[in-house]
Amino acid sequence: MTPPDAAALAAHSLRLITGLQTPEGAYPASPSFSAYRGYCWFRDGAFIADAASAAGEIASAERFFDWCAAVLVARADHIRWIVAETAAGRPPAAERMLPARYTFSGDDGADEWWDFQLDGYGTWLWALRAHADRHGTDLSRWADAVELTVDYLVASWQRPCFDWWEEHAMHVHVSTLACVAAGLDAARPDLSGARAERAATSSAAIVELIRTEGTLDGRLRKWLGSTAVDGSLAAAIAPLEVIPATSPLGAETIRVLEAHLTVDGGVHRFLGDTFFGGGQWPLLTCFLGLAQLAAGDRARALELFAWASSTATDDLDLPEQVPGHLIAPGMRQEWIDRWGTVATPLLWSHAMLLRLGLALDLFTPDSLKDPR
Ligand code: BGC
Repeated sequence: MTPPDAAALAAHSLRLITGLQTPEGAYPASPSFSAYRGYCWFRDGAFIADAASAAGEIASAERFFDWCAAVLVARADHIRWIVAETAAGRPPAAERMLPARYTFSGDDGADEWWDFQLDGYGTWLWALRAHADRHGTDLSRWADAVELTVDYLVASWQRPCFDWWEEHAMHVHVSTLACVAAGLDAARPDLSGARAERAATSSAAIVELIRTEGTLDGRLRKWLGSTAVDGSLAAAIAPLEVIPATSPLGAETIRVLEAHLTVDGGVHRFLGDTFFGGGQWPLLTCFLGLAQLAAGDRARALELFAWASSTATDDLDLPEQVPGHLIAPGMRQEWIDRWGTVATPLLWSHAMLLRLGLALDLFTPDSLKDPR
């Protein structure tokens, strides 16, 4: 399939992201997909804000950070309670921890969900700092929310929780650890005194844990103790930069992600994935592209960009996954019957395509404003 024109797809992606952002600043995960409709995830949203920021949509990114801050500050007492209970040796049950997603107005959802996930709280801190570094932004307006998030993560990072895919709650996931380490490290310049020290100590301890128990045979592993890899691990290399792309660990992780999870340029989440039959995810292909680019392989990053672009519909919408190569073909219909066809458009897919295309200089913030 011929990929659509990169600039046109990027401009459409940015229009979707800014056009669908709610008045409260939330980014809907997908406007139409039954199971996601009405919700904004910290994980998806932070990467979407990072792409918006990189594309020059400063106000959009900052409205998302405002939304995050409002969610957190509204729960300040609850967060302080979690931190105090944990310090007293009584870590609250998973159901009392902060959820992965909220309604656009910042309320907890009414639907059952696999909610206890820590990664998004690290990722929003990381995205906020990346935004400040890019645009010279003064972050004092988000200071209270940053401090609450840091306290929450310092208290909780060792706990098992659901992963990026909202699965396997009994494990400590390496990509989750990478998000938390990146976030705590990113927040350090905004902190002072004992809190700054705690953030630095925790972040260093997490990186050390990743480098020791988080690896197997010289590459990152899916969770502590697992023999598997996961497509989300590319994020630890880029854009989070927790593991240097050119280090032996970074290089071997990229090699194994290519060898085990990548088919014709499209990246699977993990072997054994059955969700919608376990297809290939454009957003993960873009994460791998960012990692390859950081490792110096621009040609491969371009191929991965082209594959991700080729998943666009005729209307230039990007799906969550495509079924060209399925790990568990027999499971696809079951999910379609349950939740409808695959989430399309998925804003996170559009965000990662934008982010990789900008990193590759295929288009610039200026050219996106005036596409030809
Ligand atoms: C994915 C999550 C994502 C959510 C919303 C789920 O299917 O597993 O990673 O945050 O969809 O896009």
